[in-house]
Amino acid sequence: MSQILTATAKSDLAGVQFQVQKADLNKTRFVDAVLHADDLQPDQILVKIDSFALTANNITYAQLGDVMSYWGFFPPNGQNGEDDAWGIIPVWGFADVIASRHPAIAVDERIFGYFPMATHLVMTPGKLTDSNFIEAAPHRAKLPPAYNSYLRITADPTFSEDFEAYQSLLRPLFITSFLIDDFLSDEKFFGAQTVILSSASSKTAFGLAHLLHRHKGATVVGLTSGSNRAFVEGLGCYDRVVTYDEIGQQPVEDAVYVDFAGSAEVRRAVHEHYGDHLKYSCAVGMSHREMNPPGKGLPGAKPIFFFAPDRMVKRSKDWGRGGMETRLNAAWTEFVPALQGSITVVRGTGRSAVEAAYRSMLAGSVKPDEGHVLSLWD
Ligand SMILES: NC(=O)c1ccc[n+]([C@@H]2O[C@H](COP(=O)([O-])OP(=O)(O)OC[C@H]3O[C@@H](n4cnc5c(N)ncnc54)[C@H](OP(=O)(O)O)[C@@H]3O)[C@@H](O)[C@H]2O)c1
Repeated sequence: MSQILTATAKSDLAGVQFQVQKADLNKTRFVDAVLHADDLQPDQILVKIDSFALTANNITYAQLGDVMSYWGFFPPNGQNGEDDAWGIIPVWGFADVIASRHPAIAVDERIFGYFPMATHLVMTPGKLTDSNFIEAAPHRAKLPPAYNSYLRITADPTFSEDFEAYQSLLRPLFITSFLIDDFLSDEKFFGAQTVILSSASSKTAFGLAHLLHRHKGATVVGLTSGSNRAFVEGLGCYDRVVTYDEIGQQPVEDAVYVDFAGSAEVRRAVHEHYGDHLKYSCAVGMSHREMNPPGKGLPGAKPIFFFAPDRMVKRSKDWGRGGMETRLNAAWTEFVPALQGSITVVRGTGRSAVEAAYRSMLAGSVKPDEGHVLSLWD
């Protein structure tokens, strides 16, 4: 196929990036970026980022930006010594190819994956199949491969235009839910029957609770804030819903703790209440925004960090890439109908809407039944 450039690609393109100050996530700025599509190198493509989801997970990326290299995916424009203080938060969403010098990727192709909070991205697709490609930009080579894989949605059997927003909001989080469910069942729930999830109202916990119900005999307990209790009860996938201040009133039984909140206080309350009956403690998230490593000296099992991309590498090897996709797609297809009644998509377009949604997410004031899907295009 010959090189393809669109008409717009022949002129400069005005783009924008939403940047945050790494040391103080309350400080934000928009930086205009002039793109020169004619500068694309052979095999590169230029994509226009159409829409992306924003959840607590993206705030966690920012909080762990240095520790876990999340700032490394999308270095801001014009980064130099002094600009190193700023970073771009990665998000999940859809983009359209608007210029291509890649022989197998055509203009107008739509892709799904990991993008910057910005209007454009220049990409260097490497290994490619009909259904996906791996971004091979040198600065991303050492970053976890799960984030470098992009779906070519025309060949995605699970894709439905009607569910595009839900795909951005939940599909990447559901992969984590799926992998935790797989891990726990692989370990026979460490001999326990009760699984306790903190931040039960979060989308990742909701997906996990849904999957856990497939295991006979498992009791799924959701821990949440008082203000989110009604929402969590309405989800219908928790056997018991318990507010954080009610942990001490629960029956003491063998249990596994899956921690999405990352709150030191909640973790301590769970460990102290269950003591030696706590057979496994899985540290997944930090939706409550506390920067504290898994606690030392707590009763019960020692908290162990679960990093979904690592488990994905393991399962892709065990099952082969196709085996992983088949299992995941089947679970996702079954989960999707539960979403429509539970999460309402809230759309925001343009700079001020993106900034407002980011600030609400940072402040923790977004309601759990809202799913923010944003675009920097007006
Ligand atoms: N380790 C991994 O591989 C991995 C993968 C995916 C996700 N995660 C993590 O899982 C967590 C959940 O992510 P998500 O995107 O599913 O979340 P989400 O749906 O946006 O979760 C929203 C919920 O989080 C809690 N929350 C949010 N902001 C808060 C704040 N400022 N203060 C207190 N509580 C707050 C509230 O739940 P409650 O009131 O119920 O506590 C809220 O309803 C994140 O930390 C994410 O990074 C980890």
